[in-house]
Amino acid sequence: MPTIKLVNIVGARPQIIKASAIGRAIRTQYSEVITEIIIHTGQHYDKELSDIFFDELEIQKPHYNLGVGSARHGRQISMMITGIEDVLIKEKPDCVFLYGDTNSTLAGALAATKLHFPVVHIEAGLRSFNKSMPEELNRIVSDHSSTLLFAPTNAAFKNLMGEGFKPENSPPYTINNPKIYLTGDIMYDNTLFFAGLAEKKKADFLAHMSLVRDNYVLVTIHRESNTDDLVRLKEILITLKRLAEEKDIVLVMPFHPRTIISLKTGLKDLYDDLKHCAHVKIIPPVSYLEMNLLEKNCRLIVTDSGGVQKESHFFKKPCIVLRDETEWIELVNNGTAKLVGADPDRIKKEFLSFLDSHSDLEYPGFYGDGKTAEFILDEILLMFEKE
Ligand code: UD1
Ligand code: UDP
Repeated sequence: MPTIKLVNIVGARPQIIKASAIGRAIRTQYSEVITEIIIHTGQHYDKELSDIFFDELEIQKPHYNLGVGSARHGRQISMMITGIEDVLIKEKPDCVFLYGDTNSTLAGALAATKLHFPVVHIEAGLRSFNKSMPEELNRIVSDHSSTLLFAPTNAAFKNLMGEGFKPENSPPYTINNPKIYLTGDIMYDNTLFFAGLAEKKKADFLAHMSLVRDNYVLVTIHRESNTDDLVRLKEILITLKRLAEEKDIVLVMPFHPRTIISLKTGLKDLYDDLKHCAHVKIIPPVSYLEMNLLEKNCRLIVTDSGGVQKESHFFKKPCIVLRDETEWIELVNNGTAKLVGADPDRIKKEFLSFLDSHSDLEYPGFYGDGKTAEFILDEILLMFEKE
């Protein structure tokens, strides 16, 4: 029987992680009917932002690596489009899978749509309603280029309806007659699958890091709005350091390279100070399994990451969000995530309040049943099944 050929476009860390759920489902349940081709744009190229996930999550090596690397957005996206276009012309897939909201997502949307390949967007409908954030435009264009849109939350599904997508559309689905679905979150599939494995495979990790369960706060910062605004970055880090000293708790900071670059080039004194502080551990990015362990065993999470916000919920940890808005609004409405921007007073208030009491917080199941990948692939079979 001829198989359905899908092309996965990945480039940045979270996309590689998301694509692993689809790859795993294909490998274990759909290998006779679906073939996947992986294009890596090369947006992330450091081992700890890319290769480590292919190895650890057992994702097949990319069939194509465009090696685009870092550049200004326009240049980076244009190089990606050129490379993706060439591969799509050669591979002639039945559909193109996009994940999330990065420049690689946008490039995939434009390259595929211009060639009239149907686009499938996983994590559709998320909105921050802040178009100055680079990801917001990527989301809007990707959604409006798609034929099948998989929204991970009620809020995302409603956003799509608010932009004119109609749940009542019937087949045949096209870019002009797209289909929107409410699914769960594909990241939850991964957490359910890997959290137990992390405990087994990395049993010594916390001890190796000299960390004690419940006695540290996990901090990640990588958003352009925080890393490239040195006043903001400085305020956040000084506030967190003071709080850690006051409460005698350790801050574990697996920092993205762009955060380290900002610290080294613009905030050298603060960086030195943090490196010598007994309450701060700035470390390179960790692997996915290590991150699972850090999340599972921490007392509190402070982050500007989309993925880490959700994982805080999966692991039932309170979360302070270093942003003024979030796409994962159900977490804020639930009271388990607090938006603080970079405001020292708000950071302090929420940090102290979450540290003092978090036993009464509840973490309802907002993100599906852990079988989102299967749901998506079943729909792909219905749409593209061949005689
Ligand atoms: C990108 C995504 C962001 C996502 C994040 C996940 C866009 C616009 N942003 O942000 O939505 O949340 O990935 O981590 O697509 N760098 C390295 N090594 C690398 C890659 C990057 O050192 O392997 C440094 C370079 O200095 C580069 C900077 O990080 O200029 C930013 O990289 P870029 O891919 O543009 O954006 P991210 O901040 O990683
Ligand atoms: N992550 C990781 N190691 C790290 C930091 C993050 O494995 O050092 C994982 C994290 O667990 C989540 C994903 O990367 O699954 C989130 O990606 P990121 O924060 O880079 O991007 P975002 O989700 O904000 O787009």
